[in-house]
Amino acid sequence: MPNDANARDLPRAYLCRRYPSTIEAALHERYRLAVNDDDTILPSDEIARRAAGAQTLFVSATERISGDVMRALAPTLRHIATLSVGYDHIDMDTARASGIRVLNTPDVLSGACAEVAMMLVLNACRRGYEADRMVRSGAWPGWAPTQLLGLGLEGRRLCIFGMGRIGRAIAARARGFGVEVHYHNRSRLPADQELGARYHATLEDALRHADILVIAAPGSPSLKGVLDADRIALLPPQAVVVNISRGDLVDDDALIAALQGGRVHAAGLDVFANEPRVDPRYRHLDNVFLSPHIGSATTQTREAMGWLLIRGLETLRAGGQPANLLC
Ligand code: DGY
Repeated sequence: MPNDANARDLPRAYLCRRYPSTIEAALHERYRLAVNDDDTILPSDEIARRAAGAQTLFVSATERISGDVMRALAPTLRHIATLSVGYDHIDMDTARASGIRVLNTPDVLSGACAEVAMMLVLNACRRGYEADRMVRSGAWPGWAPTQLLGLGLEGRRLCIFGMGRIGRAIAARARGFGVEVHYHNRSRLPADQELGARYHATLEDALRHADILVIAAPGSPSLKGVLDADRIALLPPQAVVVNISRGDLVDDDALIAALQGGRVHAAGLDVFANEPRVDPRYRHLDNVFLSPHIGSATTQTREAMGWLLIRGLETLRAGGQPANLLC
């Protein structure tokens, strides 16, 4: 913690959510830092009120940083640093137009997110929720030849929608389970990144080949509701749907109807529209494995994300262009 005399010379910053303690300690050394101690999700107008006078705003995927927030903080705000790879919660047009620099945390979380993608795939295919509940509730009558039979991965086509860094990390892990990797992306990857995965130029064609669909495309208004009833109808019978991107890419009414009717065999979901208010119908479906947006939630990953922001801001101040600068 800097002494008071030094603290007066430090840039002012506001921390909207609690970061790991090592990162907060590093921030206190570098900024005159005010912290949202309660770690509640702050509404936009409250952020604008609490962060008044800050040059740097530290946020995460839970804060909506609208144009209004930026305009309210405009007299001093120079940087927004988000502890997330996704930046759909930030009005990037206003940031660009206002000269506010925005940094995010790519790369360092790809492995952790890929692990959770595989956790969802495995639990959806192998009935992880029902299995856990059977043991935990004391209802397990003992081993039986026909008990909790699931879908094996070997030989199935696992189709990744969004073959960026996280998508490729998922592909690398999925290959170890003997699946055939397919993908859809805006553009085809070079052979050294594709590594034998089969490219589909349209999402519709990709869906026809998706025994297991893993949604890893970045959140964006243009993809809202992209997995709707018409596209779900293209999936092969007994398909499994996994989402680690953003909840609003899925049309919940359509997916829930497909899960209830058996058109989709199972799902694994780590992200939801309107988090944390999960559509209650998901909670009543045995063929859905749910987790609370934990893609990047490992200690080492969250620390690496924090350091990426700190180093990026230092590079910017020194007149450089950090690799994680979005605008
Ligand atoms: C990300 O980094 O975008 C994750 O979804 C966590 O917010």
